[in-house]
Amino acid sequence: MKILVTGVKGQVGHALQHTLGGHHEIVALDREQLDLADTDAVRRVVQLVRPALIINPAAYTAVDRAEKEPELAHAINAVAPGILAEEAANIGAGLIHFSTDYVFDGNKEAPYVETDAVNPLSVYGRSKLMGEVAIQAVGLPHLILRTSWVYGAHGKNFLKTVLRLSAEREQLKIVDDQWGAPTSSHAIATAVNQLLDAWQIDNQSQSGVYHFTNAGSTTWFGFTRAILAAYEVRADAFALPPLRVKADTVGAITTAEYPTPAVRPRNSRLDQTKLNKTFGVALPSWEQALDEVMGQVQRFD
Ligand SMILES: NC(=O)c1ccc[n+]([C@@H]2O[C@H](COP(=O)([O-])OP(=O)(O)OC[C@H]3O[C@@H](n4cnc5c(N)ncnc54)[C@H](OP(=O)(O)O)[C@@H]3O)[C@@H](O)[C@H]2O)c1
Repeated sequence: MKILVTGVKGQVGHALQHTLGGHHEIVALDREQLDLADTDAVRRVVQLVRPALIINPAAYTAVDRAEKEPELAHAINAVAPGILAEEAANIGAGLIHFSTDYVFDGNKEAPYVETDAVNPLSVYGRSKLMGEVAIQAVGLPHLILRTSWVYGAHGKNFLKTVLRLSAEREQLKIVDDQWGAPTSSHAIATAVNQLLDAWQIDNQSQSGVYHFTNAGSTTWFGFTRAILAAYEVRADAFALPPLRVKADTVGAITTAEYPTPAVRPRNSRLDQTKLNKTFGVALPSWEQALDEVMGQVQRFD
């Protein structure tokens, strides 16, 4: 199948290009080749490439900066997905789009299901929600995959930051009262590849929103300890440089002790039942995904 993938220098875009490349004809475009803020370019490129499917992992993902750049976040996250959907519909293509746990306010105690009420707390969350709505309004075959806490061997992410800061600093204090599922870009791409086999694109009842994260949950503090513990095991085996901060010396703090411009949901856990039941696709546990990624991470800067 001919697939147009946006934002291929990002974490998920990069993983998709590599994972799907052996199975499909991929037209992989970075921001220079397709700027989602340029609606004319978006229309032109889709009409030129004429893919059977568009996958859109490109997004404005700087959650805190978005509070100061709402117009740009809106253009990329809210407007562009709707244009992609319109152009896909015009050429009879489908669309797979990524969204976020930050469409919820986090006040629910249990994991969120797809039908739960949304109430984003940030500019980023609101812009991503508007992107979902814009796609659904077009009514084409689509999957909106809400993921969370994305990291991987490629790109800027929390895992890389933890490893870098643990080498530089004596002490690390990490938030321990936000719950969610760290999700690796590799696990996302592998599961999208499985979805492409399972999705009957003409079956309209399969179109819609799906929660799409690694299984299980932890806090940022729990994730940090797991990253450092995994590093310590490998440091012994592969003679990697020791870190100053150890898994058992990380400090736990509250969100109130680490204020950020954008408010994050306390509970980001997303229930995976709909994805499992509809497509028979299940992402592995976050611990298993972390183990796989730690095997790939060679450099941490
Ligand atoms: N990262 C997370 O923790 C997280 C959590 C929940 C949901 N998600 C969602 O998952 C998807 C993938 O995220 P990710 O982690 O792969 O993000 P990422 O690593 O930040 O990559 C985003 C990509 O989008 C590109 N981009 C930004 N503005 C663009 C524009 N105007 N035109 C074209 N491309 C543009 C960036 O280009 P440059 O490389 O040039 O900057 C980057 O390559 C996104 O929809 C995101 O909202 C992410």
